[in-house]
Amino acid sequence: MDNQFGIGLSSAPYSGYLMEAKNIFKTYTTGASELKVLNGISLQIQKKEAICLLGSSGAGKSTLLQILGTLDRPSAGEVFFKGQDVFSMSDEDLASFRNNKMGFVFQFHHLIQEFSAVENVMLPALIAGVKRSEAKEKAVNWLKFMGLDGRAEHFPNQLSGGELQRVAIARALINDPEILFADEPTGNLDSENSLKIQQLFFELRQKLGITLVVVTHDLQFANLFPRIFKVKDGRFAQ
Ligand SMILES: Nc1ncnc2c1ncn2[C@@H]1O[C@H](COP(=O)(O)OP(=O)(O)O)[C@@H](O)[C@H]1O
Ligand SMILES: [Mg+2]
Repeated sequence: MDNQFGIGLSSAPYSGYLMEAKNIFKTYTTGASELKVLNGISLQIQKKEAICLLGSSGAGKSTLLQILGTLDRPSAGEVFFKGQDVFSMSDEDLASFRNNKMGFVFQFHHLIQEFSAVENVMLPALIAGVKRSEAKEKAVNWLKFMGLDGRAEHFPNQLSGGELQRVAIARALINDPEILFADEPTGNLDSENSLKIQQLFFELRQKLGITLVVVTHDLQFANLFPRIFKVKDGRFAQ
């Protein structure tokens, strides 16, 4: 699987890092004005690491997460996944790579309202070409893993905020990604549910050996991480 997308890609000598970002710049151009959001950020992520991106609103945390997660291309700089330059891929290959290797959780669950919990969780597996029966079995198991037995056939409007976020996490994990990106995953939850989801992330890391990259502005959540990167003025602050 690891070499599935390796053919014909430009590669740096493989550093041993799971991911490496080199000198990332991002400028948004709106009309005549230019907004420099990221100004030369470099970062290495080891397999099974848990890192946190912390910073005030507008600091560029989501922009950086989206670039690391290959959802957006930088204005300059490179991102490597196991030594492969991800942005040398075509959009189509990149989408497939992302669906197989990366999971995403956002502040708002972004579940499809017309689909049940299990159907929402199945979706990335179906997109990856997994047979429907197999995708359903995997989705049911992930929902169980999330403590959502008995909620599989519920629709999003029949679930609580904490449950919705668990379904979204199950959906992020169904293709067994190597890295999980989460952007303010507890930002929309009450403090009790927020704490439960925080603990869940660290359980996932322990049980699945998954690498975690989490954006938050919650200092208490950030302090649970062994490595914290403070984003300020488009750079990492001390
Ligand atoms: N697509 C975009 N076009 C123009 N400006 C953007 C876009 N996305 C984000 N920005 C701006 O970039 C800055 C950083 O945004 P963001 O990365 O979302 O910050 P954070 O997640 O730290 O709150 C903000 O000033 C925001 O308004
Ligand atoms: Mg943000």
